[in-house]
Amino acid sequence: MTVRIEFARPDDWHVHLRDDEMLAAVVDHSARWFRKALVMPNLTPPITSAAQAVAYRERILAAVTVDAPHFDPVMSLYLTADLSPAEVTRAWNEGAICSIKFYPAGATTNSDAGGTSLLQFAPVLETMASLGVPLLVHAESTDPALDIFDREAAFLVDEVAPVLERMPELSVTVEHISTSTGIDMVRQFDQAYGSITPHHLTCDRSDILANGLRPELYCKPVINSAEHRKALAAAALSGDPKFFLGTDSAPHPLSAKEARVAKAGIFNAPYALEVVAELFHEHDALDRFEAFVSGNGAARYGVEPSTDRLVMERTEPAVAPVDTLETAAGDVVRLFGVAEAALWSISLL
Ligand code: NCD
Ligand code: ZN
Repeated sequence: MTVRIEFARPDDWHVHLRDDEMLAAVVDHSARWFRKALVMPNLTPPITSAAQAVAYRERILAAVTVDAPHFDPVMSLYLTADLSPAEVTRAWNEGAICSIKFYPAGATTNSDAGGTSLLQFAPVLETMASLGVPLLVHAESTDPALDIFDREAAFLVDEVAPVLERMPELSVTVEHISTSTGIDMVRQFDQAYGSITPHHLTCDRSDILANGLRPELYCKPVINSAEHRKALAAAALSGDPKFFLGTDSAPHPLSAKEARVAKAGIFNAPYALEVVAELFHEHDALDRFEAFVSGNGAARYGVEPSTDRLVMERTEPAVAPVDTLETAAGDVVRLFGVAEAALWSISLL
């Protein structure tokens, strides 16, 4: 019997679409099946004003070439020392943004304009709390003395928990949760939510290191142990409304991914749904797939799920899925999830 699921068109609550030739090469892969795409603001220079967010959204929509009237990028401002409460208020009241993103300076790609501590931004956070603007947190300590696999937990305990305690009105998404500490903290605080990526759900650090070094699995926060992977999968598979899909799809040219110092980021937007569906299928939890990819995130961000319905079937597609794409500038990008993509087909109902 064919395995078949029907679900509301999903949303991607964390995606890097880049700009220029890379944007042109990748955006269709998000636009084809996803409705909302919460687009990360870590361009160079970062998106720090309402006007920049509006202009970037227009560039994104102009770059789409597939037929995708459903596709709705939603924007975020990059939290820098220069971001004023007045600009936050303007951007929110104009409807230019759905959130503000905090990066610890130095933790990941294009994070240098970020902060060292969350509480240094207390005035802006207070404004956000009173307006109802969600805060998105890249939770990763940059303390060089800490082991890289312990840095998410350290940041959550030292930085995120105090803010959640001090500002119960501030709603926070812990982005791309990679540890059980993140899962536990989201469950502990009413105002906390968590996005989870396809790669953190299905890979662990042995996949990066055990059978030759796999730079395509290198991302921030780093993929952690099998124990953490299982805690993430259990949270997603449970249907708990606090957890939802954010792919953290983050394309880099192969020349940067396979360089002597490799860039962090996994390009998974093309096959994210197949990877997640295969996980839910393996755990006999396909009845909760829709909550994770379409329902929970929409509820967290205060929108109704899409009325479009998609169908996924577990039948081997006739053509082998492509495993790389090339930009107009000649850069090659490797796709994550090719094996799962070979097992599933997607269509509009
Ligand atoms: C992201 C990127 O390349 O922009 N990289 C990553 O490893 N996830 C930045 C980020 O979200 O940390
Ligand atoms: Zn990201």
